[in-house]
Amino acid sequence: MDRREFLQTAGTGVAAVSLATSAMGDEKSKGKELVIKRLESDRFMIDFSPESPRPLRILQLTDTHFGSPDAESKEEDKRSYAEIAQLVKTHQPDFIVHTGDFINNDGGPLISFEAIDFFDDLGIPWTHALGNHDIGLRPVSQFRKLMKNASVGEFKGPTKTEFAFRFDVTQNRANDPSFSIFCFDSGARSPGRKVSQPQIDWFDEQMKKDAEEGLKTPALAMIHIPVVEFEKLYAAKKYDGNYGERVCYDDDKGDTFSAFKRSGRIKGVFSGHDHQNDYHGLWDGIELVYGRVGGWSAYGDLPRGGRLIEIDLEKQAYAHKLAFHQAKS
Ligand SMILES: [Fe+2]
Repeated sequence: MDRREFLQTAGTGVAAVSLATSAMGDEKSKGKELVIKRLESDRFMIDFSPESPRPLRILQLTDTHFGSPDAESKEEDKRSYAEIAQLVKTHQPDFIVHTGDFINNDGGPLISFEAIDFFDDLGIPWTHALGNHDIGLRPVSQFRKLMKNASVGEFKGPTKTEFAFRFDVTQNRANDPSFSIFCFDSGARSPGRKVSQPQIDWFDEQMKKDAEEGLKTPALAMIHIPVVEFEKLYAAKKYDGNYGERVCYDDDKGDTFSAFKRSGRIKGVFSGHDHQNDYHGLWDGIELVYGRVGGWSAYGDLPRGGRLIEIDLEKQAYAHKLAFHQAKS
């Protein structure tokens, strides 16, 4: 069941918008066959140009909880580093998406941020959707400055900086993107443990602008805290994979999922947060997918791993499966 591959063909046509190369900003980060450029503070373009045609490989990692200063956690972090390095070697992703609780930034002043260097040194472009433990003593904008090979964005909300951003993916330097990825910040403290209203408004606005420009790419959403529909999916027994703990959707009341439904473009929501859950299933036309806990200093008994997402940019479709540092059959 863990290895069940899910293929979902997106029902949208080819995007008609042109985002000319000349409009692209500075090259942000570069992998072997992938280049990321920043277009705006909240927008990146990924160009994927493989030597021979193949799907784009994204590794979702989550809940690594790095950086605690006690000796036991340090040892556990070392084990996580070794396994993640092997995971990357085994599965050769083009891009890594960390869906939050990267670091125990809420653990006090002695927390180490060296995991950022470890991720940068993997040599794979990466991004990070904030988790509740990432938001703490050290301001987000400050620890993000340490990231050398990560593309992370933000926009100015009505009262504060909001850490939501998007990627549009093109293949072989085509002007028209064929897939998009949206990253959200699902907050840290109640009653704000959910995607904020300004981020939902931002997403609606992005959809409106895209529609005006004829951009209709299918898209995935990356959110640390699962939306309440993950609980509904479990209750309806429509899921595959591990259910090992109550779904902590925290303060989410359905507004985020409603925005995704309204868009008609979000095909999958990838989350973390609940380390004992890694299930997935289709809910009201959108696939809900837990990642797999990645750090040994985090709670939970599941063997650590990740989730490999393959995007076929020609077919505008994606598939995913759990991924481990030792390939399993
Ligand atoms: Fe976590």
